[in-house]
Amino acid sequence: MAELHSTASVDAPERALLVAVQKPRESVWEVRDALDELAQLSESAGVIALERQIFRQRAPNPAYFIGAGQAETLAERARALGPVTVIFDEDLSPVQGRNLEQLIAARVVDRTQVILDIFAQRAHTSEGRLQIELAQLEYLRPRLRRLWTHLERQKGGIGLKGPGEQQLELDRRRLDLRIDRIRGELERVRARRGERRRGRARHGWALVALVGYTNAGKSTLLNRLADARVYADDRLFATLDPTTRRIALPNRQPALLTDTVGFIRKLPHDLVDAFRATLEEVTQADLLVHVIDAAHPRVDAQIAAVRAVLNELGAGSKPMVHALNKCDLPAAAANALRLAAALPRSVAISATTGDGLDAFRAEVADALQDRRVPVTLRLPLGDGRRLAEIRRAGRVDALRYTEDGIHVEARVPPALAAALAEFTASER
Ligand code: GTP
Repeated sequence: MAELHSTASVDAPERALLVAVQKPRESVWEVRDALDELAQLSESAGVIALERQIFRQRAPNPAYFIGAGQAETLAERARALGPVTVIFDEDLSPVQGRNLEQLIAARVVDRTQVILDIFAQRAHTSEGRLQIELAQLEYLRPRLRRLWTHLERQKGGIGLKGPGEQQLELDRRRLDLRIDRIRGELERVRARRGERRRGRARHGWALVALVGYTNAGKSTLLNRLADARVYADDRLFATLDPTTRRIALPNRQPALLTDTVGFIRKLPHDLVDAFRATLEEVTQADLLVHVIDAAHPRVDAQIAAVRAVLNELGAGSKPMVHALNKCDLPAAAANALRLAAALPRSVAISATTGDGLDAFRAEVADALQDRRVPVTLRLPLGDGRRLAEIRRAGRVDALRYTEDGIHVEARVPPALAAALAEFTASER
């Protein structure tokens, strides 16, 4: 039985050789851009990128991903650099990873491993930690044999860290049991989240989800906007998880803001799978807030990466407010002006200083209002509770009390309209 230990933080920083593959119809600029992103990601995982190599390749070679001759060239470069980890900006099969390691005689890590490492470092809630552990275990499972070889040679390093590391026993049967257990727990989390979401929608709460490239400032914005007036005896909030907060909007419409997972170009599938419960907050939201790091030199590539992930999730056409964040930094000035002109519903803000947040709240309230749909209802006489919900979440245009019920014409959020469907009256 063995355990994974993280020693990278106490050792000297890990040194890496980054490798990308230029495919047909891909420009060298695109590949360089992707390598820039990988270098930044690796740095946030505590790795120094010493050198970059780009290989041109028509189709992945089953043995090494790159061609055999290219793999030889790579091995020579790695030897010349001294002890390095070779990081591929591609997903390698377990066989390709093993073959490359044997040939190069160095640790070989793929893009998914780097990303899983970064998410592991950033997972703060117990649900987030469970999700990332599942993604890591799923990734490791077909690679156990390779991992054993590493453990004989070294401890820790990129791709070997994580919240589950203490418990992670490299015994396949135990691994499967652990995977099953986490899957079960996450299924329960998912069911609970779904129930809560439906409950809140029925009560007229608008659901707003934060999306954005990793490090854009989502969590900072969530904390900054959180409405402190949450009463302990309020049933709806007693079960709030730490990533969902109530926000106060200028039109007093009740709204909940949920943080999600940081996005990245080509988000690994193991991760998307594991984060299903969280990502459902995105697909089920009434409105998305895309938090953008306006001070980032690669801001356009980051916006494109977030859009691509949203499209993959089927949430590409959701209504969206763009929060141009970090506007307190000088680097944001030029970008923010340009982006504000190009992106609909965009507001320059600083989640750190609080600048621009009033305008941001107004924009969110306005975007939510746009989403309201007209309903004509007949509520049972005396159903003051539902009427109050309609008033709170929407706007009542006409109200008439008759012998057979309360006739209401109103505009309400789509989720509430669906919840009230049984009271729909035919006349308007
Ligand atoms: P993930 O968890 O990776 O998705 O990141 P996130 O989008 O939740 O970003 P987070 O809120 O953790 O912020 C990332 C970093 O940016 C932190 O160091 C914040 O302090 C910083 N940051 C967030 N908002 C601002 C801002 O308005 N101005 C400045 N200068 N820094 C900010």
